[in-house]
Amino acid sequence: MAAVSPTGTLSGRRALVTGATRGIGRAIAEALAASGAHVIVTGRDEARARDVANALEASGASGADYLAADLEDDDAVGELIPRVQADFGPLDILVNNAGIDADNPLISHPLEDWRRIMKVNLEVPFRLGQAVAPQFIEKGAGVIINIASILGLSPTMDAAAYVPAKHGLIGLTRQMALEWAGSGVRVNAIAPGLIQTDMTSGVWGTPAGDAYVQHKIPAGRIGQPQDIGALAAFLASDAASFIHGETIVVDGGGLLS
Ligand code: NAI
Repeated sequence: MAAVSPTGTLSGRRALVTGATRGIGRAIAEALAASGAHVIVTGRDEARARDVANALEASGASGADYLAADLEDDDAVGELIPRVQADFGPLDILVNNAGIDADNPLISHPLEDWRRIMKVNLEVPFRLGQAVAPQFIEKGAGVIINIASILGLSPTMDAAAYVPAKHGLIGLTRQMALEWAGSGVRVNAIAPGLIQTDMTSGVWGTPAGDAYVQHKIPAGRIGQPQDIGALAAFLASDAASFIHGETIVVDGGGLLS
């Protein structure tokens, strides 16, 4: 087997990243583009998705496109992969990044919110993975990366839907990897710790957030979206060709403490 660049290259690959209009998804889109991939940016807001795709092209990406889709809409989820294939061509990489959370304890979690969180974080990756798998299996190659969380490995208070959804996503990752590895499809998950994005804007910069960083993150800093983007680009590349079904924690050592 010939040596493979440890940083990998994605030239000639086409990638779809959900929730790529900001935060971790945007950083993943940027990292994949910087590695040579043609990235399709998707998010709820078409103008934002277009702006991100334009920014990727302006920074030298080999190509970028965009498509708006609300992943809470069952029909939009069902149409997303066929639309992407029809408009932009076959995919090589799917990154299930879009996610939502809410602060609720089990005892009072509203059912509607529980279902929404389970849908966006778990059901949608299942449906998009199931939709893209036949073409990956047919060509004997393809990569799926699911963005889970350290809360998919260890629960926390008041995240009574998000914790089970992310635990489920890690289980789904392992099941997909098991069923499809023999067909050349690699499926892995990334479990970020606290990352500085809109999702966590109520945490970082607050006294409680600063205390968490100081006492719970051995690396002594909050994570940045680019910390996740770099790993996604590696996992998408042939440098990771023997990695199947793993969940890689990126949390500055937080789970160690
Ligand atoms: P964010 O809130 O900044 O971005 C989430 C993205 O998902 C946005 O682009 C949003 O538009 C998209 N999205 C949400 N609901 C959608 C829907 N119904 N249809 C289409 N797009 C939708 O969040 P962040 O922090 O960038 O999170 C990205 C992923 O990383 C999520 O899955 C999150 O659970 C996960 N994560 C984040 C952590 C953090 O500390 N920020 C830690 C661990 C995991």
